[in-house]
Amino acid sequence: MDKRVIVVGGASGVGAACVRSLAQAGASVVSLDRAEEMGREVAERAGQRFLLCDVTDRDQVFGAVEQAATDLGGLDALVHVAGILVQGPAEDVTDDDWARAMDVNGRGPMLTNQAALPYLKQGERSSITNFASSAALTAYPNGAVYAASKGAVTAWTRTIAVEWAKFGVRANVVHPSASTSMLEQHLSKMTDEEKAAYAEMMRQKVPLGGEFGDPDRDIAPVITFLVGDGARFMTGQNIAVNGGYYI
Ligand SMILES: NC(=O)c1ccc[n+]([C@@H]2O[C@H](COP(=O)([O-])OP(=O)(O)OC[C@H]3O[C@@H](n4cnc5c(N)ncnc54)[C@H](O)[C@@H]3O)[C@@H](O)[C@H]2O)c1
Repeated sequence: MDKRVIVVGGASGVGAACVRSLAQAGASVVSLDRAEEMGREVAERAGQRFLLCDVTDRDQVFGAVEQAATDLGGLDALVHVAGILVQGPAEDVTDDDWARAMDVNGRGPMLTNQAALPYLKQGERSSITNFASSAALTAYPNGAVYAASKGAVTAWTRTIAVEWAKFGVRANVVHPSASTSMLEQHLSKMTDEEKAAYAEMMRQKVPLGGEFGDPDRDIAPVITFLVGDGARFMTGQNIAVNGGYYI
């Protein structure tokens, strides 16, 4: 694959797996993340480049995307993986929780997508892949503000798929389920009994394997496919990569 790709959130979890998978497929990648040390290590191990970027800072985002597109000699795809988990009962959500979740998970993709568009428009088969969550498609008790922020990026992606099709830019949104530090954060709030009940619920609800997926084996290859020209007729789609959870 000869694609030039920016992966936003490439320092850990699914984003790091995307950097590795795309590099292995032959793509040239610049990874962006606010976690500098880990981001640089992941990118360099995959033979790729890294730039520091906080997705909530408009100037940083536009500067980093411009730098990445210059380094890559153009841009064919943007994969925006970065996101944060904000949890708590809906009745306790504060203005600050709401602003934080929306800022990173909603405004972040809006900024990176806008910053990438002028470069993506120059190609003929370009794409954006954003990350939401099953929480955008189904109830997510104890995570209403996270669910709302992932609903925002889901709705945003569906609309840019239509608006930006005239520029030759496809846009899809992925709903993953993967064993990462975000899952650890989710489990860390639980007692041992709650963890056991959660594992049992996963066994019953995930037809393929009964648990969360592996970022490298189960999620990243789908992203590499979406970036490639094999997906040239796919846009505006919700793509759940979750072993059949929430069918
Ligand atoms: N792991 C899952 O099961 C799961 C389920 C549903 C949705 N998701 C979504 O998939 C994506 C990847 O999740 P993950 O599990 O790999 O998470 P992760 O926590 O392992 O990785 C998230 C990455 O985003 C980066 N990031 C966070 N805020 C940032 C900011 N302001 N600027 C720049 N970078 C920032 C982090 O530094 C980190 O490298 C996220 O958008 C997440 O919400 C994950």
